[in-house]
Amino acid sequence: MAFSIMERHKKLERNITLLGVLAFAAVTVGGIVEIAPLFWIDNTIEKVQGMRPYTPLEQAGRDIYIREGCYLCHSQMIRPFRDEVERYGHYSLAAESMYDHPFQWGSKRTGPDLARVGGKYSDEWHVQHLKDPRSVVPESIMPTYQFLAEKELNPGDMTAELQTLYQVGVPYSKTDIAKANDDLKAQADPEADTADLRKRYPKAQARDFDGDPKRLTEMDALVAYLQVLGTMVDVNAPAAQEDLAKEKGR
Ligand code: HEC
Repeated sequence: MAFSIMERHKKLERNITLLGVLAFAAVTVGGIVEIAPLFWIDNTIEKVQGMRPYTPLEQAGRDIYIREGCYLCHSQMIRPFRDEVERYGHYSLAAESMYDHPFQWGSKRTGPDLARVGGKYSDEWHVQHLKDPRSVVPESIMPTYQFLAEKELNPGDMTAELQTLYQVGVPYSKTDIAKANDDLKAQADPEADTADLRKRYPKAQARDFDGDPKRLTEMDALVAYLQVLGTMVDVNAPAAQEDLAKEKGR
């Protein structure tokens, strides 16, 4: 029996046309099985509880982060390895960067990973660290960003930016888009009424971030962004733990 299969295979191997046709058929079937399901599902990323789009202020901070090239030294993806999880916290979930356009996973870690830096330090620490890193971490080689505290925040039209993000799939509501420029100012203004903002953006932190409540600076936006990183999804919540247990059991 085994011999006859070998015999038949020998014929196949020696007939270039037949081999070509059958190889093509095998690759086609394999390709369809892998690709076709993607046409029927809207999203390959499972949503997790707590994930929301960035507020306009956080988004403006993110634009500054990209403009300043922070990603050249900092990654934003904790890999599921023991050394990383012990140092940075729970590994990053796919959903946690689903509203990032472009994502900031990065490939270089001159400085530490920032995926869960939100809430790790106070605003004051961040402001001081960005103005003069060596004043808080003497051995630091991070550049100084003093000018961010002096520069008025001028992000352009946030309505247009949110609208663009909406077009690539970030689920901002009509109200979010219409109120974008007001939301931007309100989040860093300790005197503004932010109840509506915090309802539309759950867990959003509204306060003066740069230590100068009278001015809205680029520092306000960047610190608001840093403070939200990795805080939207409560990875230690029972639901998340159950998902993890399921994953482990699989
Ligand atoms: C030349 C590389 C480099 C660049 C560019 C850089 N950093 Fe850093 N960063 C570092 C290094 C190194 C450290 C670790 C030492 C320290 O804390 O200062 C660090 C630390 C940090 C930390 C503290 C992280 C922690 O968990 O302790 C934050 C926050 C941070 N950087 C934010 C930024 C932001 C925001 C930018 C862009 C405005 C930026 N960095 C640009 C190298 C860099």
